[in-house]
Amino acid sequence: MTSLVHGNDHVLIDALAHASLRQGAAAATRNVAAFRHNDCDHLRELLAGIRAVDAGGAILVVTEGLFSMDADSPDLPLMQYLCREYGATLLVDVAHDLGAIGPGGTGAIGAQGMLGKIDIVMGAFSKTFASNGGFVACSERSVRRQLQLFAGPHMFSNALSPVQAATVLECLRIATGDEGERLRADVMRNAVELRALLQEEGMRCLGKPSPIVPLWLGSESATRVAGMLLAREQVFVNPMEFPGVPLGSARLRLQLMARHTPAQVRRAARQLASAVRRALEAPRPALRPSGEG
Ligand SMILES: Cc1ncc(COP(=O)(O)O)c(C=O)c1O
Repeated sequence: MTSLVHGNDHVLIDALAHASLRQGAAAATRNVAAFRHNDCDHLRELLAGIRAVDAGGAILVVTEGLFSMDADSPDLPLMQYLCREYGATLLVDVAHDLGAIGPGGTGAIGAQGMLGKIDIVMGAFSKTFASNGGFVACSERSVRRQLQLFAGPHMFSNALSPVQAATVLECLRIATGDEGERLRADVMRNAVELRALLQEEGMRCLGKPSPIVPLWLGSESATRVAGMLLAREQVFVNPMEFPGVPLGSARLRLQLMARHTPAQVRRAARQLASAVRRALEAPRPALRPSGEG
Protein backbone atom coordinates (compact mmCIF):
# COMPACT_ATOMS: atom_id res chain seq x y z
CA MET A 1 0.00 0.00 0.00
CA THR A 2 2.88 2.39 0.72
CA SER A 3 3.98 2.03 -2.89
CA LEU A 4 0.50 2.67 -4.34
CA VAL A 5 -0.82 5.39 -2.03
CA HIS A 6 0.89 8.74 -1.41
CA GLY A 7 0.60 10.72 1.81
CA ASN A 8 -2.12 12.98 0.40
CA ASP A 9 -4.17 10.10 -1.02
CA HIS A 10 -6.95 8.22 0.75
CA VAL A 11 -7.62 4.69 1.92
CA LEU A 12 -11.14 3.48 2.71
CA ILE A 13 -10.98 0.16 4.48
CA ASP A 14 -13.58 -2.29 5.82
CA ALA A 15 -13.84 -1.82 9.58
CA LEU A 16 -13.11 -5.53 10.14
CA ALA A 17 -10.22 -5.87 7.68
CA HIS A 18 -7.18 -7.86 8.80
CA ALA A 19 -4.61 -6.07 10.98
CA SER A 20 -1.96 -6.33 8.21
CA LEU A 21 -4.23 -4.36 5.86
CA ARG A 22 -4.96 -1.71 8.48
CA GLN A 23 -1.25 -1.39 9.24
CA GLY A 24 -0.46 -1.08 5.53
CA ALA A 25 -3.05 1.67 5.19
CA ALA A 26 -1.76 3.53 8.25
CA ALA A 27 1.80 3.34 6.91
CA ALA A 28 0.72 4.81 3.55
CA THR A 29 -1.36 7.85 4.52
CA ARG A 30 -3.01 9.64 7.41
CA ASN A 31 -6.18 9.83 5.33
CA VAL A 32 -7.57 6.45 6.35
CA ALA A 33 -11.26 5.94 7.10
CA ALA A 34 -13.12 2.74 7.88
CA PHE A 35 -16.47 1.90 6.34
CA ARG A 36 -18.91 -0.28 8.27
CA HIS A 37 -18.33 -3.96 7.64
CA ASN A 38 -19.52 -4.95 4.15
CA ASP A 39 -21.68 -1.80 4.03
CA CYS A 40 -21.64 -0.43 0.46
CA ASP A 41 -23.99 2.45 1.35
CA HIS A 42 -21.49 3.68 3.91
CA LEU A 43 -18.66 3.19 1.42
CA ARG A 44 -20.54 5.27 -1.16
CA GLU A 45 -21.09 8.02 1.44
CA LEU A 46 -17.37 8.14 2.27
CA LEU A 47 -16.37 8.12 -1.41
CA ALA A 48 -18.74 11.00 -2.14
CA GLY A 49 -17.41 12.89 0.90
CA ILE A 50 -13.82 12.61 -0.34
CA ARG A 51 -14.70 13.57 -3.90
CA ALA A 52 -16.56 16.63 -2.63
CA VAL A 53 -13.27 18.05 -1.33
CA ASP A 54 -10.60 16.26 -3.36
CA ALA A 55 -11.43 15.71 -7.02
CA GLY A 56 -8.10 14.30 -8.12
CA GLY A 57 -6.50 12.41 -5.20
CA ALA A 58 -6.20 8.63 -5.38
CA ILE A 59 -8.56 6.52 -3.28
CA LEU A 60 -7.77 2.90 -2.49
CA VAL A 61 -10.71 0.84 -1.22
CA VAL A 62 -9.62 -2.22 0.76
CA THR A 63 -11.62 -5.32 1.63
CA GLU A 64 -11.36 -9.10 1.86
CA GLY A 65 -12.88 -11.91 -0.21
CA LEU A 66 -13.84 -13.93 2.88
CA PHE A 67 -13.59 -12.43 6.35
CA SER A 68 -11.91 -14.96 8.57
CA MET A 69 -13.58 -13.91 11.83
CA ASP A 70 -17.09 -13.61 10.41
CA ALA A 71 -17.22 -16.02 7.44
CA ASP A 72 -18.88 -13.43 5.22
CA SER A 73 -18.03 -11.64 1.96
CA PRO A 74 -18.67 -8.17 0.55
CA ASP A 75 -20.76 -7.48 -2.54
CA LEU A 76 -17.78 -7.30 -4.91
CA PRO A 77 -19.61 -6.28 -8.13
CA LEU A 78 -21.19 -3.34 -6.28
CA MET A 79 -17.90 -2.34 -4.66
CA GLN A 80 -16.04 -2.42 -7.94
CA TYR A 81 -18.86 -0.41 -9.56
CA LEU A 82 -18.67 2.22 -6.80
CA CYS A 83 -14.90 2.42 -7.24
CA ARG A 84 -15.33 3.08 -10.96
CA GLU A 85 -18.03 5.67 -10.27
CA TYR A 86 -15.81 7.63 -7.90
CA GLY A 87 -12.44 7.06 -9.61
CA ALA A 88 -11.18 4.80 -6.81
CA THR A 89 -9.15 1.57 -6.96
CA LEU A 90 -10.38 -1.66 -5.34
CA LEU A 91 -7.99 -4.01 -3.52
CA VAL A 92 -9.36 -7.39 -2.42
CA ASP A 93 -7.37 -9.68 -0.10
CA VAL A 94 -8.30 -13.29 -0.90
CA ALA A 95 -6.11 -14.92 1.76
CA HIS A 96 -8.91 -17.12 3.07
CA ASP A 97 -11.06 -17.89 0.05
CA LEU A 98 -8.69 -18.48 -2.86
CA GLY A 99 -8.52 -22.22 -3.49
CA ALA A 100 -11.03 -22.97 -0.71
CA ILE A 101 -14.35 -21.80 -2.17
CA GLY A 102 -15.83 -20.77 -5.52
CA PRO A 103 -15.85 -22.50 -8.92
CA GLY A 104 -12.42 -23.99 -9.66
CA GLY A 105 -11.23 -22.57 -6.32
CA THR A 106 -11.50 -19.00 -7.60
CA GLY A 107 -12.77 -17.79 -4.23
CA ALA A 108 -15.38 -15.11 -3.59
CA ILE A 109 -14.27 -13.26 -6.75
CA GLY A 110 -15.09 -16.27 -8.95
CA ALA A 111 -18.25 -17.08 -6.98
CA GLN A 112 -19.52 -13.54 -7.64
CA GLY A 113 -18.65 -13.60 -11.37
CA MET A 114 -15.87 -11.02 -10.98
CA LEU A 115 -12.86 -12.99 -12.18
CA GLY A 116 -10.51 -10.61 -14.03
CA LYS A 117 -12.66 -7.61 -13.10
CA ILE A 118 -11.18 -6.55 -9.73
CA ASP A 119 -8.51 -3.83 -9.89
CA ILE A 120 -5.97 -5.42 -7.51
CA VAL A 121 -6.09 -8.84 -5.87
CA MET A 122 -3.70 -9.97 -3.17
CA GLY A 123 -3.47 -13.18 -1.21
CA ALA A 124 -1.44 -15.11 1.33
CA PHE A 125 -0.06 -18.59 0.69
CA SER A 126 -0.40 -19.52 4.36
CA LYS A 127 -3.91 -20.99 4.19
CA THR A 128 -4.99 -23.28 1.32
CA PHE A 129 -1.48 -23.16 -0.12
CA ALA A 130 0.24 -24.59 2.98
CA SER A 131 3.26 -22.32 2.64
CA ASN A 132 4.36 -18.77 3.40
CA GLY A 133 4.45 -15.56 1.41
CA GLY A 134 1.81 -14.31 -0.94
CA PHE A 135 1.08 -12.48 -4.17
CA VAL A 136 -0.41 -9.37 -5.71
CA ALA A 137 -2.18 -9.62 -9.07
CA CYS A 138 -3.45 -6.80 -11.26
CA SER A 139 -4.07 -6.23 -14.93
CA GLU A 140 -2.52 -2.74 -15.13
CA ARG A 141 1.10 -2.96 -16.27
CA SER A 142 1.90 0.34 -14.57
CA VAL A 143 0.61 -0.86 -11.17
CA ARG A 144 2.62 -4.08 -11.53
CA ARG A 145 5.79 -2.15 -12.36
CA GLN A 146 5.23 0.28 -9.49
CA LEU A 147 4.87 -2.66 -7.07
CA GLN A 148 7.93 -4.44 -8.47
CA LEU A 149 10.08 -1.38 -7.93
CA PHE A 150 8.63 0.28 -4.84
CA ALA A 151 6.84 -2.35 -2.73
CA GLY A 152 9.29 -2.92 0.14
CA PRO A 153 8.58 -6.63 0.64
CA HIS A 154 9.18 -7.26 -3.07
CA MET A 155 12.30 -5.18 -3.58
CA PHE A 156 14.01 -5.47 -0.20
CA SER A 157 13.02 -8.88 1.15
CA ASN A 158 14.11 -12.29 -0.07
CA ALA A 159 11.91 -14.27 -2.41
CA LEU A 160 10.09 -17.47 -1.45
CA SER A 161 12.45 -20.39 -0.98
CA PRO A 162 12.27 -23.07 -3.71
CA VAL A 163 10.52 -25.51 -1.36
CA GLN A 164 7.87 -22.91 -0.45
CA ALA A 165 7.33 -22.06 -4.11
CA ALA A 166 7.08 -25.76 -5.03
CA THR A 167 4.52 -26.32 -2.25
CA VAL A 168 2.41 -23.41 -3.54
CA LEU A 169 2.57 -24.71 -7.11
CA GLU A 170 1.54 -28.21 -6.06
CA CYS A 171 -1.36 -26.84 -3.98
CA LEU A 172 -2.40 -24.71 -6.95
CA ARG A 173 -2.36 -27.81 -9.17
CA ILE A 174 -4.58 -29.66 -6.68
CA ALA A 175 -6.90 -26.68 -6.03
CA THR A 176 -7.55 -26.04 -9.73
CA GLY A 177 -8.10 -29.70 -10.71
CA ASP A 178 -10.76 -32.36 -10.07
CA GLU A 179 -9.20 -33.22 -6.72
CA GLY A 180 -9.71 -29.61 -5.63
CA GLU A 181 -13.38 -29.74 -6.63
CA ARG A 182 -13.84 -32.90 -4.52
CA LEU A 183 -11.96 -31.44 -1.55
CA ARG A 184 -14.00 -28.23 -1.67
CA ALA A 185 -17.25 -30.20 -1.87
CA ASP A 186 -16.19 -32.28 1.15
CA VAL A 187 -15.15 -29.30 3.25
CA MET A 188 -18.40 -27.49 2.38
CA ARG A 189 -20.45 -30.58 3.28
CA ASN A 190 -18.65 -30.66 6.64
CA ALA A 191 -19.25 -26.95 7.20
CA VAL A 192 -22.97 -27.15 6.40
CA GLU A 193 -23.31 -30.22 8.64
CA LEU A 194 -21.39 -28.68 11.55
CA ARG A 195 -23.37 -25.44 11.38
CA ALA A 196 -26.68 -27.36 11.34
CA LEU A 197 -25.66 -29.55 14.29
CA LEU A 198 -24.47 -26.55 16.32
CA GLN A 199 -27.71 -24.70 15.58
CA GLU A 200 -29.69 -27.74 16.78
CA GLU A 201 -27.71 -27.46 20.02
CA GLY A 202 -28.88 -23.84 20.35
CA MET A 203 -25.51 -22.36 19.32
CA ARG A 204 -25.08 -19.39 16.97
CA CYS A 205 -22.70 -19.54 14.00
CA LEU A 206 -21.81 -16.34 12.18
CA GLY A 207 -21.68 -15.78 8.42
CA LYS A 208 -22.24 -18.27 5.61
CA PRO A 209 -20.97 -21.83 5.06
CA SER A 210 -17.24 -21.79 4.30
CA PRO A 211 -14.23 -23.69 5.65
CA ILE A 212 -14.36 -21.21 8.57
CA VAL A 213 -17.20 -21.62 11.05
CA PRO A 214 -17.19 -18.82 13.66
CA LEU A 215 -19.09 -19.93 16.77
CA TRP A 216 -20.36 -16.93 18.74
CA LEU A 217 -19.89 -16.71 22.50
CA GLY A 218 -19.43 -13.00 23.18
CA SER A 219 -17.65 -13.43 26.51
CA GLU A 220 -13.85 -13.46 26.37
CA SER A 221 -13.44 -15.59 29.50
CA ALA A 222 -15.98 -18.20 28.36
CA THR A 223 -14.27 -18.39 24.95
CA ARG A 224 -10.91 -19.01 26.60
CA VAL A 225 -12.33 -21.66 28.94
CA ALA A 226 -14.15 -23.40 26.08
CA GLY A 227 -10.95 -23.44 24.00
CA MET A 228 -9.06 -25.01 26.90
CA LEU A 229 -11.74 -27.64 27.58
CA LEU A 230 -11.84 -28.58 23.90
CA ALA A 231 -8.05 -28.81 23.62
CA ARG A 232 -8.11 -31.30 26.51
CA GLU A 233 -10.58 -33.37 24.49
CA GLN A 234 -8.42 -33.05 21.38
CA VAL A 235 -10.75 -30.75 19.50
CA PHE A 236 -8.50 -27.96 18.29
CA VAL A 237 -10.20 -24.61 17.83
CA ASN A 238 -9.01 -21.00 17.65
CA PRO A 239 -10.40 -18.92 20.51
CA MET A 240 -10.65 -15.39 19.09
CA GLU A 241 -10.87 -12.35 21.30
CA PHE A 242 -9.80 -8.69 21.40
CA PRO A 243 -7.77 -7.34 19.61
CA GLY A 244 -8.48 -9.95 16.90
CA VAL A 245 -12.20 -9.07 17.17
CA PRO A 246 -13.96 -6.17 18.96
CA LEU A 247 -14.35 -6.37 22.76
CA GLY A 248 -17.38 -8.38 23.84
CA SER A 249 -17.58 -10.33 20.59
CA ALA A 250 -15.28 -13.24 21.34
CA ARG A 251 -15.84 -16.43 19.41
CA LEU A 252 -14.39 -19.82 18.62
CA ARG A 253 -13.04 -19.98 15.09
CA LEU A 254 -13.57 -23.53 13.87
CA GLN A 255 -11.63 -24.52 10.77
CA LEU A 256 -12.80 -27.56 8.93
CA MET A 257 -10.84 -29.87 6.67
CA ALA A 258 -12.07 -31.90 3.73
CA ARG A 259 -10.75 -35.04 5.40
CA HIS A 260 -12.75 -34.64 8.59
CA THR A 261 -15.19 -37.55 8.53
CA PRO A 262 -18.94 -37.13 9.16
CA ALA A 263 -18.47 -39.04 12.45
CA GLN A 264 -15.75 -36.60 13.54
CA VAL A 265 -17.97 -33.65 12.68
CA ARG A 266 -20.85 -35.09 14.73
CA ARG A 267 -18.57 -35.81 17.69
CA ALA A 268 -17.01 -32.34 17.47
CA ALA A 269 -20.48 -30.70 17.45
CA ARG A 270 -21.44 -32.56 20.66
CA GLN A 271 -18.14 -31.70 22.32
CA LEU A 272 -18.34 -28.07 21.23
CA ALA A 273 -21.87 -27.67 22.57
CA SER A 274 -20.96 -29.28 25.87
CA ALA A 275 -17.74 -27.25 26.27
CA VAL A 276 -19.49 -23.97 25.45
CA ARG A 277 -22.25 -24.71 27.99
CA ARG A 278 -19.71 -25.59 30.70
CA ALA A 279 -17.64 -22.50 29.86
CA LEU A 280 -20.64 -20.16 30.01
CA GLU A 281 -21.63 -21.64 33.39
CA ALA A 282 -18.08 -21.46 34.81
CA PRO A 283 -17.57 -18.81 37.49
CA ARG A 284 -16.11 -15.61 36.03
CA PRO A 285 -12.67 -14.62 37.32
CA ALA A 286 -12.85 -11.74 39.83
CA LEU A 287 -11.88 -8.42 38.27
CA ARG A 288 -10.02 -7.31 41.42
CA PRO A 289 -8.41 -9.33 44.19
CA SER A 290 -10.93 -9.84 47.02
CA GLY A 291 -10.77 -7.27 49.79
CA GLU A 292 -10.32 -4.33 47.41
CA GLY A 293 -14.03 -3.69 47.12
C1 LIG B 1 -6.94 -11.44 5.24
C2 LIG B 1 -5.51 -11.76 5.61
N1 LIG B 1 -4.52 -11.17 4.94
C3 LIG B 1 -3.25 -11.44 5.22
C4 LIG B 1 -2.89 -12.33 6.22
C5 LIG B 1 -1.44 -12.54 6.49
O1 LIG B 1 -1.02 -13.78 6.08
P1 LIG B 1 0.44 -14.28 6.44
O2 LIG B 1 0.43 -14.58 7.89
O3 LIG B 1 0.65 -15.47 5.60
O4 LIG B 1 1.37 -13.17 6.11
C6 LIG B 1 -3.87 -12.98 6.93
C7 LIG B 1 -3.50 -13.93 7.99
O5 LIG B 1 -4.22 -14.48 8.72
C8 LIG B 1 -5.23 -12.69 6.64
O6 LIG B 1 -6.23 -13.26 7.31
